[in-house]
Amino acid sequence: MATAVCPGSFDPPTNGHMDVIRRSVSLFDQVVVAVIRNLSKTPMFRSSERVAMLGDLFADEPTVEIASFDGLLVDFAKDRNVNVIVKGLRAVSDFDYELQMAQMNHRLSGIDTVFVPTSPEHAYLSSSLVKEVGSLGGAVDSLVPPEVARLMKERWSHER
Ligand code: PNS
Repeated sequence: MATAVCPGSFDPPTNGHMDVIRRSVSLFDQVVVAVIRNLSKTPMFRSSERVAMLGDLFADEPTVEIASFDGLLVDFAKDRNVNVIVKGLRAVSDFDYELQMAQMNHRLSGIDTVFVPTSPEHAYLSSSLVKEVGSLGGAVDSLVPPEVARLMKERWSHER
């Protein structure tokens, strides 16, 4: 049985993340979405909130599990008997760093990385751009799932 891990910050989950996770579901028997707990910069959402959002988004998907982790991704992957790391590639500019991480992760653990090309309609999407656009009053509704958009607006309404 093949189990994949889709790791990320997911601060917040975007339609691009949804696309890569859904495509992983069709490729692997089990998918663990792994939310990194400690981000270098202050997150918009706590890790427990990011886990809860993803849990709601994939509630109808029995082969998807949402978890959070600290430390090395490969240690988490080995603990969970994960066979493959899945990463989305939006553009060639993602490739250099992702290749470096894939090679390091393989060196550390023997676990391979599979790259899934992001669907072109999501190629420009990133969590940080969505946050920037939304915090400056732009519409995020077509960029993130509806419930995520609602939570983002709620957060900003408290800050303003
Ligand atoms: O959504 P992001 O910010 O692109 O996700 C990056 C993430 C969390 C997948 C990456 O930073 C990661 O794997 N961090 C865990 C620490 C680790 O294993 N570092 C060594 C990477 S070779």
